[in-house]
Amino acid sequence: MIRPPLVNTARPGRFTTAVVNKADLSRRYYLLVLERPEGLAEPEPGMFIHLLPPASGRFFLRRPLSILDCDDSTVSLIVVEKGAGTQCLRRVPVGGAVDFIGPLGNSFPHLPGKRILAVGGGVGLAPLYYYRSTWGSERGEAAGGEYRLLYGARTREDLFLDRFDWRSSEVGFATDDGTHGFPGNVVELAAKEIERAPFDVVFSCGPSPMLEAAAKLAREKRILHYVSLENRMACGMGACRSCVVLSRDGETEIYKTVCNDGPVFDAESLVWDKLPRV
Ligand code: FES
Repeated sequence: MIRPPLVNTARPGRFTTAVVNKADLSRRYYLLVLERPEGLAEPEPGMFIHLLPPASGRFFLRRPLSILDCDDSTVSLIVVEKGAGTQCLRRVPVGGAVDFIGPLGNSFPHLPGKRILAVGGGVGLAPLYYYRSTWGSERGEAAGGEYRLLYGARTREDLFLDRFDWRSSEVGFATDDGTHGFPGNVVELAAKEIERAPFDVVFSCGPSPMLEAAAKLAREKRILHYVSLENRMACGMGACRSCVVLSRDGETEIYKTVCNDGPVFDAESLVWDKLPRV
């Protein structure tokens, strides 16, 4: 299969908008639904917003958050609580205001007619789920393709089974403790899926060890692999270089920004043993 190019087509703006809904998904994860501000460009699956936790000047750095869903009136995000900023964000009441810049970054390639295996963990679910509702499922099938989403977590609670539209024929689950779905990690489940049926391309998004394992699997099976990376970000727009990762172009190693050259990369272009662990 020809490697589709990854192009950043984002047209970001800066917005202040309101929280219109929020819900705990589990102890660590929560759903945040924002009013879609007028003028927000249509985000593509893989793009993110850069959101400022609202604590009257206490936080200077924005948090990059992948888009789970976006319709005419709302933008939905999954957030994992892992520091003061995301704790503070969790406490913003419905009706409270937040400030964000977005949409930012590139997107997963749109591949109608291809058989795509999407492998996610943690908040990595967001762009893969959004791909499914935007370009996957019915639209891919109509073009003769398939979009199969595998989602893994430590335990059943972090699969958010009651919260999302899971249709069992399109989705597979794995839990480390065996409390739901495949007992083991999601990349082991992906290996089984690839044995069962051929796929043209793998997408992945999630914790670093999961991405590395997915890259190894895709390389062994000679399947094209696009990976969405996380990194700490300051500006979010390619200016400060705080989010660079090492990539390879032939024999030449070059630094690329996760925020602007990514977050989606051709996995084979990355220098995996020098990637930051986040
Ligand atoms: Fe500044 Fe990526 S966060 S260049």
